[in-house]
Amino acid sequence: MNPLKHVAIIMDGNGRWGIKNKNSRNAGHKQGLTTVDQVIKTSIKQKIKFLTLFAFSTENWKRPKKEIIYLFRLLENFLKKRINYLHKQNIKLRIIGVKNFSNNLNNLLKSAEKKTSKNSVLQINLALNYGSKSELINALKILKKNNEVINEKNINKYLHTSGIPDPDLLIRTGNTNRLSNFLLWQLSYSEIFFEKKLWPEFKESDYLKIINKFKKVKRNYGNI
Ligand code: IPE
Ligand code: IPE
Ligand code: MG
Repeated sequence: MNPLKHVAIIMDGNGRWGIKNKNSRNAGHKQGLTTVDQVIKTSIKQKIKFLTLFAFSTENWKRPKKEIIYLFRLLENFLKKRINYLHKQNIKLRIIGVKNFSNNLNNLLKSAEKKTSKNSVLQINLALNYGSKSELINALKILKKNNEVINEKNINKYLHTSGIPDPDLLIRTGNTNRLSNFLLWQLSYSEIFFEKKLWPEFKESDYLKIINKFKKVKRNYGNI
């Protein structure tokens, strides 16, 4: 049985679920939060130590302004409502991505990270304004500026994910088989599961099914 320490998830399909069920993409984003709550609970029960959730990509700025504003308001309210609960559950929150939002949101994110920084049951890495290519370019620029050797260890040091082990398992919901600029470096040996269900319809049983399949995979890392 493979140990499972780090799960990364591309939470895709909110918009389609919203259109299908409530005639509104934003309603799908709201419903998706129920799945977030449930996945956090199950991850703790499964003794997973790192859960990385892709919430907003550097490319998602291309979306209509109305949807972007709604998404960030939803995130702000979710954090305000949940931060004490997350803290009580001994969950550590870390943001991966470039924090260049409104002062209000930047401060909220920073204070949530600070408040939970000593927690140890589960670390949630929330990928916000995250893009893998710009993350790598940024790391290489720092190495060049510092005149440091370009090697794996030094690149890791300057990624948003520094200090976090690579994901063992990547799940993408929403019936779309691509990575969309998510953790391209860190996923080099992750087991990847593409799930047909849309994020708001992804249930605990679906998550457990994938975890059980993952545990039985033979992970070779190039060996035989
Ligand atoms: C993922 O769901 C959530 C974000 C990107 C914020 P989508 O909004 O991409 O949903 P679909 O893929 O359009 O259904
Ligand atoms: C990836 O989903 C980003 C998030 C889930 C936050 P997208 O829906 O933005 O991906 P593409 O654009 O279909 O590749
Ligand atoms: Mg999508």
